[in-house]
Amino acid sequence: MVKAAVFRGPQQPLHIEDVQLDAPGPREILVNTKAVGVCHSDLHFVDGLYPMANPAILGHEPAGVVEAVGDQVTYVQPGDHVIACLSVFCGVCEVCTSGRPYLCSGEATRRAPNDKPRISQNGEPIHQGLNLAAYAEQMLLHENAVVKIRPDIPFDKAALVGCGVMTGVGAVLNTAQVPAGASVAVFGCGGVGLAAIQGARLAGARQIIAVDTMENKLAMAREMGATHVIDASSKDAAASIIDITGGGVEYAFEAIGLKQTAEQAFRSLAAGGTATVIGMIPVGQKVEVDGYEFLRAKKLQGSLMGSNRFRLDMPRYLDLYLQGRLDLDKMVSRTGKLEDVNDAFRAMKAGEVARTVLTFP
Ligand SMILES: NC(=O)c1ccc[n+]([C@@H]2O[C@H](COP(=O)([O-])OP(=O)(O)OC[C@H]3O[C@@H](n4cnc5c(N)ncnc54)[C@H](O)[C@@H]3O)[C@@H](O)[C@H]2O)c1
Ligand SMILES: [Zn+2]
Ligand SMILES: [Zn+2]
Repeated sequence: MVKAAVFRGPQQPLHIEDVQLDAPGPREILVNTKAVGVCHSDLHFVDGLYPMANPAILGHEPAGVVEAVGDQVTYVQPGDHVIACLSVFCGVCEVCTSGRPYLCSGEATRRAPNDKPRISQNGEPIHQGLNLAAYAEQMLLHENAVVKIRPDIPFDKAALVGCGVMTGVGAVLNTAQVPAGASVAVFGCGGVGLAAIQGARLAGARQIIAVDTMENKLAMAREMGATHVIDASSKDAAASIIDITGGGVEYAFEAIGLKQTAEQAFRSLAAGGTATVIGMIPVGQKVEVDGYEFLRAKKLQGSLMGSNRFRLDMPRYLDLYLQGRLDLDKMVSRTGKLEDVNDAFRAMKAGEVARTVLTFP
């Protein structure tokens, strides 16, 4: 039996319950969860803004230690420290072999619908949210869901890299490929936006303009490398960005998940600029831009999980962390236990945290 926070439908708190994990199949591994970050994407599922099967276990920003491996697993062995990533890659499909494994549909790395489920409770299947189900003491994963990491990295810091840091830094370095000297604006300074700000700093951007409605987030943004901050609760962010840059930024990133801020990000661009929407805009909502803006060669694009090749990217980010060039320490605003997951959602909604990380003994 494994203790887990179970999602039983939108607009309800997660329930702490015991669930059963099956034994690892040939290419599966059992991982003891050591830390899991609470990302806003899970809150979107809980709020009912995005569909999610139920009952399910959410949680997709974890680090842990391999406990057991299936008989065909070659990549890891028991005792290895790992980060798990929802971008589980099969390695053989068209998107994987064309170098975009973050787009893998993942069918080959999940159990077939008629197979015994990975997670169950009294014989009833429990959905494995986003391939991981990390709000649980243990995770049963495909081996291609993890990357090995150095054992000297603290688990709470490593966990953040599993989604928020990969997503934000990766959107800048992989998706948009911001060059040194560029001007950048980041809308939203939560876990993902602060990571995007750090990505822009790593890229050598000359102007990094952070936008948020909360003073404490803007203060953090400055610590992470923002050169300018805009309080969007009292100002039109796009107009302010155009003012600061004398005509607009070359790269804008939306890390909130709102129609209105995605449109602002596009409006804040200079001619030829690129807006990258990272935030999860609620299903069914349209993003509208002025058609003539395309004649100014402006681009609008999405980014999924920082366009990662996570087995390459994540260990590199951890090296940058150890060198003091990527700040993960300040990104962990607070820690808690699995039972604190609902309070972590509340704190996120209230804007109190960059990230809450839940830790396990
Ligand atoms: N594309 C992906 O692969 C991917 C991966 C992870 C997360 N996400 C999404 O990224 C978004 C951000 O996630 P997070 O965990 O950083 O969330 P978060 O709640 O920690 O941060 C959101 C920030 O936006 C700010 N904000 C809210 N409304 C605003 C407004 N109108 N103007 C300016 N700032 C505003 C909040 O104060 C907060 O600081 C979410 O939508 C999440 O689902 C996407
Ligand atoms: Zn996430
Ligand atoms: Zn694939």
